[in-house]
Amino acid sequence: MNTKRAPSLIAALAVTALLTACGTPEPARPVVVQGAMDVETRGLAGAIEHPVEETIGGWTFWRGTIDGYPVVISKTLKGMANAAAATALVAERFHPAAIINQGTAGGHTPELHVFDIVLGTESVNLGSFKTGYRPRGGGSHYEEWSPLDLMRGEGSAGQDPAARTMRRYAGDDGLLSAARTVRDRYRTGHVVDGVIGSSDVWNSEIDRIARFHDQYGTTAEEMETASAAQIAGLFHIPFLGIRVVSNNITNGDTYDAKVGEACQAYVREVVKAYIRKVKR
Ligand code: 5AD
Repeated sequence: MNTKRAPSLIAALAVTALLTACGTPEPARPVVVQGAMDVETRGLAGAIEHPVEETIGGWTFWRGTIDGYPVVISKTLKGMANAAAATALVAERFHPAAIINQGTAGGHTPELHVFDIVLGTESVNLGSFKTGYRPRGGGSHYEEWSPLDLMRGEGSAGQDPAARTMRRYAGDDGLLSAARTVRDRYRTGHVVDGVIGSSDVWNSEIDRIARFHDQYGTTAEEMETASAAQIAGLFHIPFLGIRVVSNNITNGDTYDAKVGEACQAYVREVVKAYIRKVKR
C-alpha cells in the first residue's frame, strides 16, 4: 500500500463506518402509477420531473419525481397476465410505497357516463369461474357459472366448494382518502366509488353485464385492475384502481379515447395528495 495515501484512505473508511453506524436515510419508496396503453401513460410519463426510461423485457418504466417525491410510471401492456407480470416486476425492482392502476373502462350501470371516474373500493376477477355441467348440444349458460377463488388453499379449486366465492381485492384506505380529497378538482365528469371487474374478456352481452352487476356489484369492467391488485396484495403493497369510463354499452355511450388524458390529469392530483400525506 502507498503509505502516503494511507491517512486519506483511513479517513474515508472512518466516514463510511460512521455513516453506516448512524444509519444513512433510506431513499423514499416510490409511488407507482400503472397504465396499460400509450394513451393511458403518455401524459403522466411526460409530466414527471427528471424522467429516466427503463425497459425490462417487454415492459417500460419511467422513473422520476412529482413535487420532488419519487414516482414510477409503468406501462403494463393490456390484459391480466401482462398487468400481473408488470406488477411483480415493479414490486421487486422498485419496492413501491403504493401502486395505482389507472386507465379506461366500460360502464356496467346506465348512470355512469363517458368521462366519469370510478375509484375501486374493490376489484374482482370476472374471468375465473367454474361452469355448470351441460351435455353435448346443451349450449352455454353463464347463469350457471360459479366464481372460483384461485387464491384459496392448496387443493383443486374446481373440487372445493369453499373456493366458490368471489375474491374481492379491497382498495387501500390511504389511497382512497387521497383520491377523495381531490375529487372536486375533476371537472369533466363525476368521481364515484365502485367495484372494478377485470378479465381478458370485453363483455358486450347486456344480460351477462347485468348479472355481473347484480351478483358481484361491478360498476365498470376492464382488463388489468384485479390482477394487479392480486399481485400487489401478495407483496403487501397498498393498491388502488382508478378507472375512467371510455364506453358504456348499458346506456349507449360510445368509445372516446380522450378520457385517458383526463384520467391521468386526475391521477396526478391523487398522487400529489398522497405524497402530501406521506410527507407529513
Ligand atoms: N371491457 C374491457 N376492457 C376495456 N377497456 C376499456 N373498456 C373496456 C371494456 N368495456 C380497457 C382494458 C384494456 C383495453 C382493451 O381497454 O383495460 O386495457
